[in-house]
Amino acid sequence: MEYRTFGDTGIQVSALGFGCGDVGGLMVRGTVQERVDAVARALDAGITYFDTASGYGRGQSEINLGAALRQLKASPVVGTKVRLLPEDLDNIPAAVARSVENSLSRLGAERVDLIQLHNQIGPQRGEGQAILTPDDAMTVAGAFEDLGKQGKVGAWGFTGLGHTASLHTVVDSGRFNTAQTSYNILNPTSGQPAPRNHPYQDYGMLAQRAAESGMGIIAIRVLAAGALSGSTERHTLAAQSVAPIGTGADLAADAELAHSFSFLWDDGYAQGPVQAAIRFVIGNPAISTALVGYSSMEQLDYAITAAERGPLPGEALERLQAVWEGMGQG
Ligand SMILES: NC(=O)c1ccc[n+]([C@@H]2O[C@H](COP(=O)([O-])OP(=O)(O)OC[C@H]3O[C@@H](n4cnc5c(N)ncnc54)[C@H](OP(=O)(O)O)[C@@H]3O)[C@@H](O)[C@H]2O)c1
Repeated sequence: MEYRTFGDTGIQVSALGFGCGDVGGLMVRGTVQERVDAVARALDAGITYFDTASGYGRGQSEINLGAALRQLKASPVVGTKVRLLPEDLDNIPAAVARSVENSLSRLGAERVDLIQLHNQIGPQRGEGQAILTPDDAMTVAGAFEDLGKQGKVGAWGFTGLGHTASLHTVVDSGRFNTAQTSYNILNPTSGQPAPRNHPYQDYGMLAQRAAESGMGIIAIRVLAAGALSGSTERHTLAAQSVAPIGTGADLAADAELAHSFSFLWDDGYAQGPVQAAIRFVIGNPAISTALVGYSSMEQLDYAITAAERGPLPGEALERLQAVWEGMGQG
């Protein structure tokens, strides 16, 4: 396993990470044995970053990850998240502190290595699901800094989803140590200039910008929630209905487009679509760790082997440009 600097945090993380979210579902809906076996296998393969959130399985992911790590007597880097609700916005610091206390108690820990803001960021506060403004994010950063002084969190980050210009404002503030970013072979714009005719949100090289300013970068949706396997069939433990992030209208549209990259496996650059998707993301050195959401031990094993193969060859990357430029014309 390759290890990468996690921005200026002083932490090293494995190039492949373990997503404990609802989409893969293993750490939420798997049996105790399945969860412990998977975490043990990941640790054994050298995975050192585990990503959870207060909201995954309504807290169950944190409970299950904490229990598995205690059973295995392991202490890898753990990141969790705070999602503020509209009613929290009158007193953001209090809501952040409350959420972190609850996360620590579910994890069974006195401190978590990384705390992240889960809400999307936009120019105005959103109604219903709380979209926060960059100013709100600064208030959250202040609350995280206070928790850092109390020794409850080691580093803090935000989720790079929402309005691109607002996300850049938060990056440029220098108040966060890390960013999560949606980055995959369907939408590579967090890591490189948008291809001509690019049909999706342009993240404006968020990953590169944040990495250059010393932030650790966590890639999410590396498999476009599973669509990059080319199939819409869901594993029994996986979320059965998933909304894409920064890609097509639905999972079926993303799965269909996944076949546009078939030259990668037909011409021998990778062994299959999932391997190609993981190796594409890991190939960008700005990415500190590429998260994959797992539904089974087989999927975890597959991702470990893919990561061990390293980046796609340069020639494959050059050929990708033509596929991307064709995507917007369809
Ligand atoms: N901050 C945020 O707002 C945010 C948002 C999203 C994700 N995340 C983080 O990123 C992590 C990963 O994201 P994600 O789970 O949403 O998306 P993902 O990693 O792109 O996709 C996960 C899905 O890929 C499929 N898959 C995995 N390995 C496979 C294999 N070897 N072969 C075929 N299919 C395979 C599984 O679906 P099927 O087998 O059912 O097809 C699984 O449910 C999450 O767990 C979470 O930690 C954070």
